[in-house]
Amino acid sequence: MKHGVLDQWQRPLRDLRLSVTDRCNFRCRYCMPAEIFGPDYPFLSSDSILTFEEMERLTAIFVALGVQKVRITGGEPLLRKDLPELVARIHQMDGVEDIAITTNGSMLKHQAQDLVRAGLKRVTVSLDSLNDERFRELNGNRGKVKRVLEGIQAAADAGLKVKINMVVQKGKNEQDILPMAKYFKERQHILRFIEYMDVGNSNGWKMEEVVTKKEILETIHAVMPLKAVDPNYVGEVATRYQYVDDEQEIGIISSVTDSFCANCSRARVSAEGKLYTCLFATNGFDLRECLRSSDDDAVVKQKIFDVWNHRVDRYSDDRANNRARKKSKVEMSHIGG
Ligand code: GTP
Ligand code: 5AD
Ligand code: SF4
Ligand code: SF4
Repeated sequence: MKHGVLDQWQRPLRDLRLSVTDRCNFRCRYCMPAEIFGPDYPFLSSDSILTFEEMERLTAIFVALGVQKVRITGGEPLLRKDLPELVARIHQMDGVEDIAITTNGSMLKHQAQDLVRAGLKRVTVSLDSLNDERFRELNGNRGKVKRVLEGIQAAADAGLKVKINMVVQKGKNEQDILPMAKYFKERQHILRFIEYMDVGNSNGWKMEEVVTKKEILETIHAVMPLKAVDPNYVGEVATRYQYVDDEQEIGIISSVTDSFCANCSRARVSAEGKLYTCLFATNGFDLRECLRSSDDDAVVKQKIFDVWNHRVDRYSDDRANNRARKKSKVEMSHIGG
């Protein structure tokens, strides 16, 4: 490959997921359970997280290695002060074809317009239920459905393309699959159902709590018939379906029962500048140290090249084959999902 880099399974580096903070105003049980992420939790200090200048420099180096898509994540990215400034810096960069944000939507209402002005075209909002009681149970009693729906509406009104992510957990919110499907079908936003995953070390994941892709599809198809559609691009995370009657799209993200590591082209950088080559990685490579040393761009680029080139990660495939053995995994709130 002339300008890019391939890993040990011949997978190119195409997507960069940049976490801008490890903090969040929610405490979703599957991500940041309140008893672990409490008042004494050692969140990153402000001088330990990358500045926008450092993120911009890093993104340009990743683009030189083949990255075309950038996604800003958290924690909750809208907690990071002046986020539109970072969006603008990345948006104007040659080679960046797509920039998106994954947010819990609770602060979107007041920020949507500034983000659009900065060049943002699309946003993905996490929402696990339309029922306030269940939603609060899931998010650690922090967020209200109404606020998130207002955020989604404000984003759509500001001209953003909106997708919704719903994590489905057995015994928690499988009764919300159909109401969510109907609600977002009517409003023509793409809803993606995510199988509950064993990310991090804190959520006490059990296979019995996973609602499988098959179960989700059967639930919806029985009421609103669906047909499969081709992926938009190689390596798309969600498998796409359309309702037969109106062609509105949904997606299923089935890391547990139908893994998709074979085409995984995603690099993740935590807010403190660690590079992770898998969502389930144990350790990251310290890019902040390189950025804050005398290394020039060519040296940093070579270091990232080497990390990606040595990459062998395929955790979800290994899990499916009962080969996944890990004592410690990075937390989702640290690398943004
Ligand atoms: P599009 O750019 O719209 O296709 O979005 P995306 O699906 O790439 O990004 P998004 O942040 O919406 O991803 C949805 C969720 O899928 C994430 O929050 C994770 O929960 C899961 N996911 C994304 N990438 C990976 C991955 O590489 N591995 C695994 N196991 N899960 C992933
Ligand atoms: N399993 C599946 N999805 C998760 N997310 C966070 N933790 C998990 C988990 N354990 C989702 C969030 C959000 C995205 C960043 O990842 O709900 O949509
Ligand atoms: Fe916050 Fe998202 Fe984690 Fe929930 S899933 S605690 S909203 S970062
Ligand atoms: Fe990529 Fe790791 Fe997810 Fe597999 S488990 S798709 S290698 S991030």
